[in-house]
Amino acid sequence: MAESWATLGIDLLVEPTGPGLRRGLTDALREAVRSGRLAPGTRLPSSRALAADLGIARNTVADAYADLVAEGWLTARQGSGTRVVEREVVPPSGTAPHPRALTRPAYDLRPGSPDLASFPRAEWLKAARRGLTAAPYQALGYGDPRGRPELRAALAGYLSRARGVRADPERIVVCAGFAHGLKLLGTVLRARGARTVAVESYGLDVHRRILTASGLHTTPLPFDRLGTDPGGLADAEAVLLTPAHQFPMGVPLHRDRRTAVADWARRTGGLVLEDDYDGEFRYDRQPVGALQGLDPDRVVYLGTASKSLAPGLRLAWMVLPPGLAEEAAAAKGGVDPCGVLDQLTLAEFLTSGAYDRHVRATRLRYRRRRDALVAAVAARAPEARVTGIAAGLHVLLRLPPGTEQSVVQAAHWRGLALHGLARYTHPDAPAEPVDALVVGYGTPPDHAWSGALDALCAVLPG
Ligand SMILES: Cc1ncc(COP(=O)(O)O)c(C=O)c1O
Repeated sequence: MAESWATLGIDLLVEPTGPGLRRGLTDALREAVRSGRLAPGTRLPSSRALAADLGIARNTVADAYADLVAEGWLTARQGSGTRVVEREVVPPSGTAPHPRALTRPAYDLRPGSPDLASFPRAEWLKAARRGLTAAPYQALGYGDPRGRPELRAALAGYLSRARGVRADPERIVVCAGFAHGLKLLGTVLRARGARTVAVESYGLDVHRRILTASGLHTTPLPFDRLGTDPGGLADAEAVLLTPAHQFPMGVPLHRDRRTAVADWARRTGGLVLEDDYDGEFRYDRQPVGALQGLDPDRVVYLGTASKSLAPGLRLAWMVLPPGLAEEAAAAKGGVDPCGVLDQLTLAEFLTSGAYDRHVRATRLRYRRRRDALVAAVAARAPEARVTGIAAGLHVLLRLPPGTEQSVVQAAHWRGLALHGLARYTHPDAPAEPVDALVVGYGTPPDHAWSGALDALCAVLPG
């Protein structure tokens, strides 16, 4: 029986285009590899089978495969057939692949992620073993919706020591990432009758959407050289802020404004939601302590493992004012959606000192990257200005007016994923738009870092 797609076990959707079958098939396959539709290592059908599927001569397919092996897109080995090469594909310099081709970028400098390759796997596994071994069997039940007591106690110790948070384990609620915590708070605020939450002019739209989905209206506060201006808080019942390190502008909230926010909350009964997403990473001076320390009765402190460890853990924590912890835990729906084993592991990771060791080691590596980034931009792209460098895993790269979109587009064509400031700007922000890039230097693994930096410098206006 002739081999066909039905008996081969390998389906390949490919549509040769353009004049000439060999050229059309070569182009279509190259495009499929470059776009990531055919992942590295994917085995292709034999030339005989694909020829039968497409109704073309076997030699045409064999020639197209041979062309792509010669170009470095495919490998052919006796016994294992023809496969897509096992590496990320960087488009040759000087060529401008079709924008659609770059669904899987060669380099990634988007903010939001730490270097996932440096996740402390061995230490985490040790902590998992110890945490589970020491836990009573009751720990594996439904448990307290606020989260495991071991983790809440460990967090209370760490947060008061390292972040100046006034933390009582009874008022800590573990959540599945900051986003989950914000959702719970949105539910609580709405149930308490709140209608409006003030947010910063710059921030993540996903967080605004979470509040909107809870039935709350978001209104942007102005931003100036002292950071977010709390002057416009009058109509809000709550405010969401990133006081230690404004995301993404990178500045701390000025001390007068920290006091003004705490005063507003005390005066009006308003609630401050403090997003301390990357408080562990500060390079040039002592960390800015948590705003919550000023008034633990009016500030909800939110921290996350997404920058210090990995976002995939989906582990975060809230320290809440009296009364609110029960409401937030109830908003979880009675059962804690956060897995017990990860909570026990993080508790052990914190109390054993592994968390501090990991943060200190990564802080040093990120600091070196930041220094390299600042030096490279100064040397190779003097028209761009790097700001917000004292902390965190990203910087703001200010660009000449009117150039943000074209720089992001040029990066896209080169296989470099990059975000402009526009996507982090509240649609109703009162300020004039600023042209800038939000460069996440924590994202690439070590082996891709210098390539990513080169790609960035290549697209910046010189
Ligand atoms: C401003 C800000 N807040 C919070 C987070 C953390 O979110 P989560 O814990 O949901 O991963 C991030 C992560 O990128 C962030 O940029």
